[in-house]
Amino acid sequence: MTKRTPMVAGNWKMNGSRSLVESFTNVLNSHTFDNMDVVVCPPAGFLSMFVAQTYSLGAQDCSAQDNGAHTGDNSVQMLKELGAKYVIVGHSERRQDHDESNETVARKAHKALADGLVPIICVGESLKIREAGQVNEFVGEQLGAIFAILDAEQVGQCIIAYEPIWAIGTGKTASPEQAQDVHAFIRETLANYQSDLALNTRLLYGGSVKPDNAAQLFAQPDIDGGLIGGASLNTDDFIAICQAAI
Ligand code: G3P
Repeated sequence: MTKRTPMVAGNWKMNGSRSLVESFTNVLNSHTFDNMDVVVCPPAGFLSMFVAQTYSLGAQDCSAQDNGAHTGDNSVQMLKELGAKYVIVGHSERRQDHDESNETVARKAHKALADGLVPIICVGESLKIREAGQVNEFVGEQLGAIFAILDAEQVGQCIIAYEPIWAIGTGKTASPEQAQDVHAFIRETLANYQSDLALNTRLLYGGSVKPDNAAQLFAQPDIDGGLIGGASLNTDDFIAICQAAI
């Protein structure tokens, strides 16, 4: 089986401070993360405060536009200048708070690739969808919107994060089996779009990943790492989760 390079990305969401940036910079740079990618995704305004040496930086969203009258938005070019290498698109909180459609998410991913950032595309269902037994249909629709705008080669440059909405911020982590089932479905869907996509695309799990459950999740064959929220704001917890991914 192809072993993909593990990745752990910390999504700070709308949290953080200059002192947290400084403590993360000092602690993370004193660690070496061999054969894995570690990414910190702070609010965009904090990106330029980091001195990221042993890890990379990511943004939490981007505009699908080049520039112009889009108050509060950040273009891909601006995020690159601030030091970002990755950008999360389609996080469920963005889809909900900003009414982002599957097509909007796909256009953001396309723009990120076009202008030089690696998209981390989030998909995932609500508890209602899960309880209705419609997870694969729902996630399949989210992926279909990506395939409608990105060609196979472009999809192959993306990272996909499965984040069941009912597990985000709730402490109700998906079981390793639940997460593996959906990751396997995503990988099968990628294979149907283009065969070698499935082997090479990294699939991250997000939703209440903690130091005490990370290893079991990351041991699953189709889980290549994690997208971490709350636990990414604590350096010890975040490093413990990174170490579980090696
Ligand atoms: O993007 C990751 C985030 O949605 C997961 O949040 O707090 O459940 O780890 P949390």
